[in-house]
Amino acid sequence: MYKAAVLLTATLMAAREVQSLPATSSSDSYPVPDYCYFKQSKFLPFNNAGTNKNWADAPTLKIKVNNQPLIATMDTGSTGIVIDAKYGFNTTDLEKNCEIGHVFYTSSHWLEEGYWCTTNVDIGGVVTSAMALIRTGEVCCPDFNEATDAHRCQKASKSCICSGTCASKKSGIEIEDNEGEAELAVRQTVGKAYMGVGFARGNPPSHNLFMNITSIDGVPVDSTYRHGYVINSTGVWLGVTKANTAGFNAVKLNLRESAADERDWGEPPCAVQINDGVWRVGTFLADTGIPNAYVRGNTSHTEGDRITIEIPDNSGAFGEAKFLSVPTSKAGTIGTDNLMQPTWVGTRSIAGVNTGRRFYNGYDLFFDGDGGYFGLRKKAT
Ligand SMILES: *[C@@H]1O[C@H](CO)[C@@H](O)[C@H](O)[C@H]1NC(C)=O
Ligand SMILES: *[C@@H]1O[C@H](CO)[C@@H](O)[C@H](O)[C@H]1NC(C)=O
Ligand SMILES: *[C@@H]1O[C@H](CO)[C@@H](O)[C@H](O)[C@H]1NC(C)=O
Ligand SMILES: *[C@@H]1O[C@H](CO)[C@@H](O)[C@H](O)[C@H]1NC(C)=O
Repeated sequence: MYKAAVLLTATLMAAREVQSLPATSSSDSYPVPDYCYFKQSKFLPFNNAGTNKNWADAPTLKIKVNNQPLIATMDTGSTGIVIDAKYGFNTTDLEKNCEIGHVFYTSSHWLEEGYWCTTNVDIGGVVTSAMALIRTGEVCCPDFNEATDAHRCQKASKSCICSGTCASKKSGIEIEDNEGEAELAVRQTVGKAYMGVGFARGNPPSHNLFMNITSIDGVPVDSTYRHGYVINSTGVWLGVTKANTAGFNAVKLNLRESAADERDWGEPPCAVQINDGVWRVGTFLADTGIPNAYVRGNTSHTEGDRITIEIPDNSGAFGEAKFLSVPTSKAGTIGTDNLMQPTWVGTRSIAGVNTGRRFYNGYDLFFDGDGGYFGLRKKAT
């Protein structure tokens, strides 16, 4: 309660300062809000910064759960974390204090069985807590029915390979686009976790470990901590400040339809063009979890089509991505001289783009989770 009040105060404060910002020139039509008031932040270098050249792989961070070390993939394309119960959890306590739950991966039919629990995680000295699924079991469950099976597999299967005729029924929240990789990563249980820190990706902010920071290097955070992050190629800043958003442009986000709370922001807008066709308005995601992309413009796209993305729209955009359409069968073979070229380009379920992580070869990205701003900063080339 107290925490929520503090956040709200900080949000209102920032909103007031935003309104007083002078527009200095046409290149400032998308200014970053005035973050002078916000002081607390920490830069966390990616664990694989040294070996991950040009965003070939997903970024990872060192985390600790119950003082036990884990390597966590930092995924902006999902929200939430699954942690194996063997990392210091007591099943009796879980049953007593937490709510029975599951995560089901529709494309591979793996069912993660466990309990939803508010869980403290230390991310490089930044202590945070969110609703996590503490996994007590993992079963291949092609016939799983979310509506009737009470969070547990009623009929486990030996083989999870099923040729399109599985009876799995999905209801509720969909994690679109990157299930394939998320499920594989999360199943590599030894010393690994998959940490979804994105927004507008299914779960509400209460599941996002980057949205409920309590202390940094032992110092409790106060109203001068602005929830959010700044991602560059070597790490992530937790806590938005004037200094770490210098040089960015930003756009205000809208709350999602039927938002879970006052920080449940929707995706930023963008415009998509296929070849020289008409622009289609949609939403933008730069998903660190995947090397490929998903695009839906005004027309369908096929091999070799030129795809242009402008953020937030196609007049005076502050962000741009240009790449070619590549079928999965030719992944990684077309447009390879372009650092922002995704390995392959599928069709998105909604209008707009999920650029995948190679977008970060061209831009740094920031998200103000308390106030709802999304920004980009072109990298110096
Ligand atoms: C789990 O916690 C209960 C009390 O809640 C305790 O009785 C039990 O010994 C604990 N089990 C383990 C393995 O630590
Ligand atoms: C935020 O963290 C506090 C502990 O620092 C915890 O009590 C609270 O439940 C957390 N909120 C959510 C939504 O997880
Ligand atoms: C990312 O930001 C950190 C902290 O400001 C900085 O030390 C590092 O050089 C930056 N990395 C790149 C590739 O710009
Ligand atoms: C797509 O383009 C066609 C042809 O220009 C046009 O008729 C149609 O309205 C456009 N659709 C959208 C969604 O923009």
